[in-house]
Amino acid sequence: MAGLNILVVNSKGGCGKTTVATNLAAAYATADRRVALFDCDAQASTRHWSQCRDAQLSNIDLHSYPVPSQIPAPITGAYDICIFDSAPGLTTKPVLRNDFEALLRLADAIVVPMLASAWDIRAGEQFIAQLMTQRVWRAAPTPIAVVSNRVNGNLTSQQKLQHFLSCIDIPAVTQFRESPVYAEAGDSGRGVIEMKLNRAARKEFKAWHTLTDWLDHAAIAGQQSAQQARRPALPLAAPKAPAAAAAATTSDSQERA
Ligand SMILES: Nc1ncnc2c1ncn2[C@@H]1O[C@H](COP(=O)(O)OP(=O)(O)O)[C@@H](O)[C@H]1O
Ligand SMILES: [Mg+2]
Repeated sequence: MAGLNILVVNSKGGCGKTTVATNLAAAYATADRRVALFDCDAQASTRHWSQCRDAQLSNIDLHSYPVPSQIPAPITGAYDICIFDSAPGLTTKPVLRNDFEALLRLADAIVVPMLASAWDIRAGEQFIAQLMTQRVWRAAPTPIAVVSNRVNGNLTSQQKLQHFLSCIDIPAVTQFRESPVYAEAGDSGRGVIEMKLNRAARKEFKAWHTLTDWLDHAAIAGQQSAQQARRPALPLAAPKAPAAAAAATTSDSQERA
């Protein structure tokens, strides 16, 4: 299978982009994949995480590109998995438009971390609308997954987020708990999946495997659709996750029967 480029993005700062990017990198690296992590945020939190990482842990190559359009295309070909951690404000600051487009061109799959507060949901709605109307995405719509981050048992806000996502046909693939284990992992250059002796970390393993499974399926679906000709104008709907697409096909055929 060709390499998979995963963009972690949301214009909102503090929603968990770096946390998701670094933990995803660790999850893939412990599964023996060749992994590169691209720090495309001038704040350089991902680089800091990488510098704290113990050399005994599975290797993750770090590349810093605060200007993503400068990423040389051949570099991504050397890896099974490339993960791009992005800066905040990509859709809200016109000056960052080129950066956003460069990242969208590279991406095979997009992961959008979202917090479930009313403000974050509103900002997330705007971000996803801007993403799906972006010309680069519309020319080649890559699968989008939302992941709920810092879930703390507030059911009302989770339900609001689920309702919003169901309206736009984007899967909420998984959710990560609010837990101090994420700060601990961040400070020590690890992913929670590498903290096997930590009980709170172990509770999160399933959520990370759910996300990597979804991304691996999205990669296969993306490669199949890349074989089809590109169409100039596409409807405003994200491609369905493979499981959802299969369910829809079944119910379509049941309706026809
Ligand atoms: N699931 C979580 N539980 C607890 N703290 C979290 C969680 N996800 C992120 N954080 C913390 O929230 C802060 C912002 O996260 P970060 O990944 O840096 O966001 P972004 O990259 O979007 O700005 C960090 O201090 C991080 O440790
Ligand atoms: Mg960050």
